[in-house]
Amino acid sequence: MRAPNEAPINVTREYTSKMMSTEKIHSDGWLRRSPLDLIEHEHLIQAQLCDSLERIADDLPDNVDHRLCRKVIDSLQFEMPLHHRDEELGLFPLIEKRALPPDNIHDILARLALEHATDESFAGELLESLEGLSEGRRLKNPDMVGYMLRSFFESYRRHILWENAIVLPLARARLTPEDLEELGHAMVSHRR
Ligand SMILES: [Fe+2]
Ligand SMILES: [Fe+2]
Repeated sequence: MRAPNEAPINVTREYTSKMMSTEKIHSDGWLRRSPLDLIEHEHLIQAQLCDSLERIADDLPDNVDHRLCRKVIDSLQFEMPLHHRDEELGLFPLIEKRALPPDNIHDILARLALEHATDESFAGELLESLEGLSEGRRLKNPDMVGYMLRSFFESYRRHILWENAIVLPLARARLTPEDLEELGHAMVSHRR
């Protein structure tokens, strides 16, 4: 008989996380109870960020929603790096510790961490253009910015899919209640 932490992993698990209120998300108690749910919820928010970036790219050069650009800037500058910190400093090391050899997760986690760095760097390159758009300025090179936006959100959507399909199901199968408590504490500390 399998131990609870060795349950088979269903990598095709439906993505069923419900949207939760911001107030609830930022409650320390809730975060400590359900850190994996928060990470999954943040993937929903990131998927919306990708949709917003696609809309901005579609609306270039003259029909871009300035307020949407402002929201996107905040997400890229603050929320995305925080989420990456939760994964790299909190979630990934715990998975590494609990994974079994057949899980073959080491290379996947290393690749995802590398993508975090690449995506943050890429987001930094987009910020100047997005700032200009948020202030109603015309871009000198809208075709190039559109291309960069599309490259970013297409890659980021793939990243989210991998984490939802492989990383979170593995975490739910392998992490112990103590691991989840440790993860929750780490995520709370990242928000202080
Ligand atoms: Fe990630
Ligand atoms: Fe993620």
